[in-house]
Amino acid sequence: MDLKEYIASIKDFPKEGILFRDITPLMLDGKAYKFACDQMIEYAKEVKATVIVGPEARGFIFGCPVAYALELGFAPVRKPGKLPRETVTVKYDLEYGSNELSMHKDAIKKGDRVLIVDDLLATGGTVDATIKLIEKLGGTVVGAAFFIELEALEGRKLLEGYDVFASLKY
Ligand code: PRP
Ligand code: HPA
Repeated sequence: MDLKEYIASIKDFPKEGILFRDITPLMLDGKAYKFACDQMIEYAKEVKATVIVGPEARGFIFGCPVAYALELGFAPVRKPGKLPRETVTVKYDLEYGSNELSMHKDAIKKGDRVLIVDDLLATGGTVDATIKLIEKLGGTVVGAAFFIELEALEGRKLLEGYDVFASLKY
């Protein structure tokens, strides 16, 4: 299955100069969506993940099916003001802006083998911040799985030292 057929590319969204890769056509096709999730599920088994972490919002789209399929827990990484209990927080830069990310302090236990799942790797800022949150909480990041990698933005460089999986590369 050529999954690139299910990605729409939109010029100048959300800002001029960005070629936005839209995963919603993939999500609308049940077989293609499952095929994409299955690749991440295989990777999660290979790295022997014991918990899945996904950044809001599109990290939930792939992270939750992976957790469900393997009967693993899922911990959300969220933007400010969304988590109701005690959190750890870090600042990060985006391809088109900057933000803060938080996790609940009890989301990760020492010794957890954490797989980070997100839809897309651009600059790597989101997942770099997510790694910092997980490590602050005593977890071990065993890998980061993306559906799409935008190679020109060199996110892999920022994530050097960590295992990175991507289904599609642009
Ligand atoms: C997008 C995308 C990744 C991140 C990739 O999320 O879903 O999480 O940016 O960029 P980076 O590698 O440069 O950090 P966004 O913050 O736009 O939020 P959303 O998932 O809520 O749309
Ligand atoms: N496309 C889709 N999502 C994104 C992008 C992009 O180019 N950059 C950061 N998130």
